Amino acid sequence: MPTTPAPAADTPAEEATETEPARSRSAVRSLLRLWPYVRPVRVRLFTAAVVAVLASCTGLVIPLVLKWIVDGPVADRDTGGVWLGALYLLLLGLAEAVLFGLRRWLVARPLAGVEASMRADLYRHLQRLPVAFHDRWPSGQLLSRGTTDLMLLRMFLAFPLTFLLVNGVTILIGFVIMLAQEWTLGLVLLAPAVPVMIVCWLFEKRYSKVARQAQDQVGDLTTLVEESVLGIRIIKGFGRHRSQALAFRDLSRTLRGTELAKARLLAWIFAAITILPELAIGAALVLGTVQVADGDLSTGTLVAFLSTALALRWPIESIGFLLAMSQEAATATERYFEVMDAEPESGADGTGTSSALLASQAPGPDPGGLRFHAVRFRYPDAPAGSAPVLDRIDLHIRPGETMALVGGTGTGKTTLTALVPRLHEVTAGRITLDGQDITEMPRETLRALVAVAFEEPTLFSASVGENVLMGAGAHAGETELNRALAVAQADFVHALPQDTDTQVGEQGLSLSGGQRQRLALARAVVGRPRFLVLDDPLSALDVHTEALVEAALRRVLADTTALVVAHRPSTVMLADRVALLSEGRITAVGTHHELLRTSAEYAWLMSGTAETTEPTTETAKETAKETTAETPKVTFEGDKR
Ligand SMILES: Nc1ncnc2c1ncn2[C@@H]1O[C@H](COP(=O)(O)OP(=O)(O)OP(=O)(O)O)[C@@H](O)[C@H]1O
Ligand SMILES: [Mg+2]
Repeated sequence: MPTTPAPAADTPAEEATETEPARSRSAVRSLLRLWPYVRPVRVRLFTAAVVAVLASCTGLVIPLVLKWIVDGPVADRDTGGVWLGALYLLLLGLAEAVLFGLRRWLVARPLAGVEASMRADLYRHLQRLPVAFHDRWPSGQLLSRGTTDLMLLRMFLAFPLTFLLVNGVTILIGFVIMLAQEWTLGLVLLAPAVPVMIVCWLFEKRYSKVARQAQDQVGDLTTLVEESVLGIRIIKGFGRHRSQALAFRDLSRTLRGTELAKARLLAWIFAAITILPELAIGAALVLGTVQVADGDLSTGTLVAFLSTALALRWPIESIGFLLAMSQEAATATERYFEVMDAEPESGADGTGTSSALLASQAPGPDPGGLRFHAVRFRYPDAPAGSAPVLDRIDLHIRPGETMALVGGTGTGKTTLTALVPRLHEVTAGRITLDGQDITEMPRETLRALVAVAFEEPTLFSASVGENVLMGAGAHAGETELNRALAVAQADFVHALPQDTDTQVGEQGLSLSGGQRQRLALARAVVGRPRFLVLDDPLSALDVHTEALVEAALRRVLADTTALVVAHRPSTVMLADRVALLSEGRITAVGTHHELLRTSAEYAWLMSGTAETTEPTTETAKETAKETTAETPKVTFEGDKR
C-alpha cells in the first residue's frame, strides 16, 4: 500500500490542537515561497489587482448615484434627470464589466507561465534527485504534486490572491461609505464582523488539516492507479483485479470522506458568513425604515445604504471560499517544496576530497582501471544499526580487463554495480577510475565514462533508435547505432515495421524480454564507453543467442574495462577473472577454473545442482524446507484462513 513520506496527514482530531498554531502561521509563509516564481509577473499581477479594486469601487459608486436619483430627480419628479441617472448607472456598470474583463486578460497568460515554469522546475529537479529519493517516494505522490497541486497554485494566484485584497479593500471602503451615510445603521452592520472573523479563523485551522489530507490521499490514489496500470499483467495473471479494485475503492472512499469533511466545513463557513450579515442587513432595514418614517433619514440615503450593504454581500460571502482556496494553495505549496527542498545530486561535490588527499599520499602510481577501495555501503533508508549491504570491498579491475561478479541472489551485486555510476553514494571507502576518485569528477563526465545495463531493461516511449542512442553522445549516428545493434545481436530491429524508427511502447512492453534486454545492451555499448557495467545482461536470452552476443561482446570487451554480473557459467566465460561476492564481501578473486577448484561456494553457484555441499546458510534453509515438508499437516493447518 502506498504511504506518504514526509510530514503527511496524521490522525486529524488529536494532532490538530498542538500543530495548528505552527501550521496556520506557516500557511502564509508557505505561500510567500511562491515569490520567486511570481516576481517576474509581479507588475502584471499588481496592475490586475489595482484594476480589480477600481472595478469593485466602481460598483460601490452605483448606490451613491441611486441616492442622488432618489433624493434628486425622483423627489423632484424630473424625468430627464432620472434618464440621466440611468445613463450614469449604465456607464458605471459597463465600466465595471470592462475593468473585470481587463483584469482577467492581464493575469491569464502570465499565470499560465508561472505554472509552466514551476512544473518545469519540478521535472528538472526530479531528474536530478538521487535514486535513494525515488526509492523512498511513491511515484503517485510526485505525479500529483506536478499536476493537481500546481493547478491549485495557479488558481490561487488567479483568484484568491487578488480577491482577498480586492474584497478587503471593497469591504473597507463600503463600510466607510455606509458609516458616512448613517453611522448608527453602519454600526448595526458592523456587529457581525467579530463573530465572522472568529468563524473564519476556526475554519482556517480545521480546513488546512483536511486540505493536506485530501491532497496526500489524491497522491496515494494516483500511486495505486499507476501501479495497477503498470502491473496489469500481474493483476490479470493472478486474477487480482477484485482485490485491486477493493483497495482502490477503500482509498477512494477515504478520499471521498475527506472531501466530504471539506464540504462540511465549507458549508459551515458559508452558512455563518451568509446568515450573520443577512441578519444585520435585516435589522438595519427595520431600523432604517423607522428612521425614514420618523423623518430622521432621507429615503435616498436608506436606498444608498442598503444598496451598498447588498453590494458588499458577495465580497463578504466569497471570503469563505477564497480562504479555502488559499489554504489548499498553501498546502500545495508545502507539498511542492517538500520535493524541491530535497537535496539533488551534486556535481563533483568534494565528498571525496579527504580520500583524494589519502590517495595522493599513497605510495606508487595508480595502476588504472576500476578500483574499489575498502568500500562500504548501507542503503540510506535501511534501519539504523543494520549490517551494511556491502562491507570492506577491495577489488581491482585492471585496464581492459573484464571481471565477472558472481554471488548468490541478494548478496549485493546490483548494489555494487550501482555504486560505479554513483546512483548511490558509498557509505565509506572510495571508487576510482584510472586513479581518479569518482566523487571528484563531475557526474556528467563520470556517466559518459561509464555505461550501464541493468537487470530490468527499461525502454522509453520513443523509437528503437532513440532508445539505443541514449547511451551515446549527441554526435553518434546510424553507424554507431548499427554497430551496437550488431554487438547486442538485436538484428530483430531491422524486421520491425519501421526498422530503427519503430516506436516502442511505454517501458518497451511491445517487445519481448530478451529483445528489450538486447536493446539495453546495445544502449550500453553504443557510446564505446571506457568502463562498462553490466548487471546480468544476458539472463533472458536463449543459449544460442547468448553465445552470439557473447562472441560479439568479447570483441567490445577487449579494450573496455568491464564489470559483469553473472549467474551462469556461460556469462562468466566472457570474463578474464571472477570475483565472488558473499554476504556483502568479496571472498575470492581468480579465474573461473581457479575458483572452481578453490571455492566450494563458487563451485556450488556455478554447478546449478546441490551436488557440492554449500557452505553458507542456503543449505540450512533447504534443510529447513525439507523438515517442514515432512510435517505437511501443521503447515497446511497454519495456512488455512
Ligand atoms: N533500494 C533499496 N533499499 C534498501 N535495501 C535494498 C534496496 N535495494 C536492494 N536492497 C537490499 O540490498 C540487498 C542486496 O540487493 P541486490 O539487489 O544488490 O542483490 P543482488 O545480488 O543483485 O541480487 P540478485 O542476484 O537477485 O539480482 C538485498 O538484501 C536487498 O533487499
Ligand atoms: Mg541483482
